[in-house]
Amino acid sequence: MPRAKKITLGVTGSIAAYKAAEIASALTSAGHEVRVIMTEHATRFISPITFETLTRQKVLVDMFSDEDHRQVSHIEQGTNIDLVLVAPATFNIIGKAVQGIADDLLSSVLAAADPKRVLYAPAMNVNMFENPAFQANMATLKDRGSQFVEPEEGMLACGVYAKGRLAKVPAILDAVESFLAPKPLQGKRVLITAGATREYIDPIRFLSNSSSGQMGVALARACRSYGAEVTLLLANSTLDAPGVDVIRVDTVADLYAAALKVFPETDYLFAAAAVSDFKPAARSDSKIKKTGASLNIELVPNTDVLFELSQMKTHQKLIGFAAESEAMLANAKGKLERKKLDWIIANSLDNFARTSGKVWLVDAQEIEELPELPKPELAYAILDALLAKGL
Ligand SMILES: Cc1cc2nc3c(=O)[nH]c(=O)nc-3n(C[C@H](O)[C@H](O)[C@H](O)COP(=O)(O)O)c2cc1C
Repeated sequence: MPRAKKITLGVTGSIAAYKAAEIASALTSAGHEVRVIMTEHATRFISPITFETLTRQKVLVDMFSDEDHRQVSHIEQGTNIDLVLVAPATFNIIGKAVQGIADDLLSSVLAAADPKRVLYAPAMNVNMFENPAFQANMATLKDRGSQFVEPEEGMLACGVYAKGRLAKVPAILDAVESFLAPKPLQGKRVLITAGATREYIDPIRFLSNSSSGQMGVALARACRSYGAEVTLLLANSTLDAPGVDVIRVDTVADLYAAALKVFPETDYLFAAAAVSDFKPAARSDSKIKKTGASLNIELVPNTDVLFELSQMKTHQKLIGFAAESEAMLANAKGKLERKKLDWIIANSLDNFARTSGKVWLVDAQEIEELPELPKPELAYAILDALLAKGL
């Protein structure tokens, strides 16, 4: 996980200003030092007291009312920090940043800050968002190296359903984490499979398992924030991974076909999907009717995707997952050798569909036990351990 950083959180006069409280709280809980700077207009929407309580830091609003001028706030908060996050960012503050107007504390901070250290999460009415002036301003700031978490479609405060709503708080936090993380995987292409495949008996009935896809999605997000270009083949999960190329798949055949296209260009493959080892010998085109008699379904072995890919291995490093109900480590070692894997991440079936997990990292030489962690943190712990082993 990225280490504790100094973050300036700029809050401007949008109806979404109250959502910045959740952002301030989450960033503070993650151990970051968060200093909130509000525009005068933002204080009409939410009180500085809220942010002072959540961040345990004095909130700055007025450039001239600070009692202590031994440090010049706008220079200090704009330059001596790891990130300036403006969330929500109004039409107005973005216009001022582009034009170089510094008529209050936050705009002065932005004037002093390196544009490459600024992340904006705009929120506004759809007409304001689509206004050519705003679109041009956003493009200019991107050209200068600033990043954006663009607003999403939703019910706007003005009562219309359109684009302009502040991005969801988890997406903003994800962008912050990604911004702050080191980039040891820069230039690497990562392919990750996740979720539970289905094998159909008839058009609506299928064999599957309870994998939620959380571990693979967490790995995809972590690889992305470490700088990799990530493709995620996600089977039957509604989870999302911003900034990741997510290809949604259903059956093992779908997953295999998609993997074959991406694998040659892949540097690291993480095979976290819980694939069906068996499939029905035949799939009925129509719904199987109840007859009163019992029904036998013949199952045949399915394509072993990881084994097949391991046969095509050139420069790729392969990391498999082994979920076992017994003899976990012995079975994991067997799979490691059979499928020519570089590492295997062994875990017990208890990890399925849970938000946290415990794993062992197995390679030909050793077994490393990682602590039980929430899956988003476990993903970083796995990557850090693999990087230390020469990934
Ligand atoms: C109820 C209300 C909601 C507003 N919501 C937004 C908004 O979501 N986005 C925006 O760009 N401006 C919004 N405005 C307009 C800004 O508050 C206005 O442009 C102001 O000058 C912004 O100042 P600031 O950027 O210094 O905070 C809203 C105004 C009101 C009265």
